[in-house]
Amino acid sequence: MPEATFHFPPNFRWGVATSSHQIEGNNTNNQWWAWEQQPGRIKEGHQSGLACDVWQHPEIEFDRAAAMGLNAMRLSVEWSRIEVAPGRIDTAALDRYREMLKALRERGIEPLVTLHHFSDPLWLTEQGGWLNVNVIRYFIRYVEQVVRALGEYTNLWCTLNEPNVYSYMGYMAGLFPPGKQDMRMTFAVLRTMLQAHAAAYRRIHRLQENARVGLAHNLRFFDPLRPHNLLDRLVAWVRDMGFNQTTLQAVWNGWWVPPAGFGPALTLRRTLDWLGLNYYTRDLVKFDPAAKADFFAQTMHDPQAEPLDGGYGELYPQGMYRALKQLARLGIPIYVTENGIPDADDDQRPRALLLHLHQLWRALQDNVPVQGYYHWTLTDNFEWAEGWTLRFGLIELDPQTQRRTPRPSADLYAAIAQSNAITPELLDAYAPELCKVLLPS
Ligand code: FCB
Repeated sequence: MPEATFHFPPNFRWGVATSSHQIEGNNTNNQWWAWEQQPGRIKEGHQSGLACDVWQHPEIEFDRAAAMGLNAMRLSVEWSRIEVAPGRIDTAALDRYREMLKALRERGIEPLVTLHHFSDPLWLTEQGGWLNVNVIRYFIRYVEQVVRALGEYTNLWCTLNEPNVYSYMGYMAGLFPPGKQDMRMTFAVLRTMLQAHAAAYRRIHRLQENARVGLAHNLRFFDPLRPHNLLDRLVAWVRDMGFNQTTLQAVWNGWWVPPAGFGPALTLRRTLDWLGLNYYTRDLVKFDPAAKADFFAQTMHDPQAEPLDGGYGELYPQGMYRALKQLARLGIPIYVTENGIPDADDDQRPRALLLHLHQLWRALQDNVPVQGYYHWTLTDNFEWAEGWTLRFGLIELDPQTQRRTPRPSADLYAAIAQSNAITPELLDAYAPELCKVLLPS
């Protein structure tokens, strides 16, 4: 009789993922804050405001994570707080982050620190942001300060969060600042970001002997709507190249692939000690001769699939297994640095969490070296262009009153982390309909 409990390896990291601008509050010195002041940019005119008030009260979040039995947390440091003007470092801000990491350590939680998660200091934006190639030098100067200040408390660094999403949303879709729609700019920004990643990878290793440096890649699947239609397959492939392979090929094989360019990127080669997978959903892609601006592709969600809140996509847990298998080819440790769903009433999340973790477990059975899972996210936070309309938290937050209310998923995730397993009892209690699907009969 097969074992009915899905065990995870000893030492597996159970964490939550967050980012500075989305949770700290009053990040007035970055480009997102300025963007939020412009009418029409954020859904329902929402603003980050006090966010989850974490800058003032980080211990509220840390205590909750510790009480849940988590042993890992991914958080980002805010460049615009640390370097308030070009070359002007606010040492008090660095001290504050030091205190935070120390507080995490005291609670038995290992910090994974992201150095750039979508937000740029306003002074950088005024100089052209990531279109200005000097940004690489600026970024390294800032990274050096951070690693010197925080290196006592962590050696696990994520240089950049999702350079593909940052460049796509800001320069192609126009939904993130600076709101451009320009393909040339999109890939110029992506290339510069990946060069900055590689430079940071080297600099961090010079500063810290035992550093473990990676980046977080948002891997999204683009599947042909009609699997046997050659044109659907072609446009799906183009999407995959543009969104996924450009980044992966550059930082692993040291090669630019179209549309990011073509040719060697030798200084970028093998600049990963580990890779972060941010996995959410997939798109179906259909050839459309009228969609010239979109590379002749129409993207949609499977009408048969279970839709997620706010048009976020479809529930597609198999993508977790597929993504991990694809990334396993690199032969380096993998962290799932983000995964979750928007679900204000928590009627899908417990099931979604179990299904995604089951797919992760399957990948582990195939010896994919997954070392940890960071759920996005602990507490509802400011969801960029979607404002407060998408609720990804295990804990519900009322941003007006700062009242926090754990959703059932919080208890489920705590139980999984504490038992380092998905047990039949948990399945039965949180998603009994899955017992039939996942358990041996
Ligand atoms: C990812 C971002 C993260 C959050 C989640 C929902 O693309 O990295 O900040 O917005 O999506």
